[in-house]
Amino acid sequence: MDISKLVRKNILQVKPYSSARDEFEGEASLFLDANENPYPTDFNRYPDPHQKELKKKISEIKNIGEQQIFLGNGSDEPIDLLFRVFCEPGVDEVLIPQPTYGMYAVSASINNILIKAINLTENFDLDVERTLAAVTAQTKIIFLCSPNNPSGNLLSTSRVNLVLEKFDGIVVVDEAYIDFTEQKSYLSQLDRYPNLVVLQTLSKAWGLAGIRLGMCFASATIIAVLNKIKPPYNISSLAQNVALETLNREDIKIKRVNQIIAERKSLETNLSKIKLVEQVYPSDANFLLVRIKNAKQVYSELLKKGIVVRDRSSVILCNDCLRITIGTPEENQLLVNELKKL
Ligand SMILES: Cc1ncc(COP(=O)(O)O)c(C=O)c1O
Repeated sequence: MDISKLVRKNILQVKPYSSARDEFEGEASLFLDANENPYPTDFNRYPDPHQKELKKKISEIKNIGEQQIFLGNGSDEPIDLLFRVFCEPGVDEVLIPQPTYGMYAVSASINNILIKAINLTENFDLDVERTLAAVTAQTKIIFLCSPNNPSGNLLSTSRVNLVLEKFDGIVVVDEAYIDFTEQKSYLSQLDRYPNLVVLQTLSKAWGLAGIRLGMCFASATIIAVLNKIKPPYNISSLAQNVALETLNREDIKIKRVNQIIAERKSLETNLSKIKLVEQVYPSDANFLLVRIKNAKQVYSELLKKGIVVRDRSSVILCNDCLRITIGTPEENQLLVNELKKL
């Protein structure tokens, strides 16, 4: 598959912004090239536009080449850039199985890309037949989220592989919640599928939602195009420094992930015992989708007690469902106590 054939023509022709620091070679000690303020604060210099140190660290952790890593201002940035690279506004379309993470559709709409929404199956797995049947010459990207938000389950590998094999466009596998499951990441499949793009984030398992750092992994060809069109300084020095510090403490991340997984199990057990609760869906993520009698009312009652969960009851296939993020043991206990009272 020749990926560059999928890239919009005008994007292929874009000449990227050349930042001051990219334009000289060799060592320098006096920087009068970027119109920065010469008086030191901790941040008077522009950040590294290529995030070299951070990518080196990520490449070690993920066992993947640095040229296969794109870093964005949250996952939302690579999602937006993928539309801009591969989809012609007003002409092309994307397939988004539903229910799933809402930003794919929002970003598609902002970029004026038609959305074809295909329902997942009853148990939130991919309906491969209907998905592939909906593909047209204008379909450029299929978004798959595994583990899926808001249902929490993994999509079955055989179905995802089928889509990767049969679809001649880009398949995005969003693995924002991959650290909360034992299933292997699709990162290991990047060499096998040139049309695969994997999204991960530091917002969940790594506990850094506030710094906004999303990771996008793909072939060096796709990553080079994303790098070409990104804003030059899209990751601040603050974010790069904090990310590096945190990535150097993988032991802490593993401990926290294990705590969250253990809590997920006990919250699932405790919720299942509550009369109002009709079903707790199995989860490979850091949240549970819970079918509950009078979900909207329960949502409001919890809010009166200062507890906010996500009301997903109007979302397709999620009638009467609340999505509950796994909190600390104390937080989860408070939630269970209030639900018991109701
Ligand atoms: C599936 C999925 N992808 C991406 C994100 C957002 O990640 P980020 O914080 O990196 O933008 C979320 C956030 O809830 C999500 O559920």
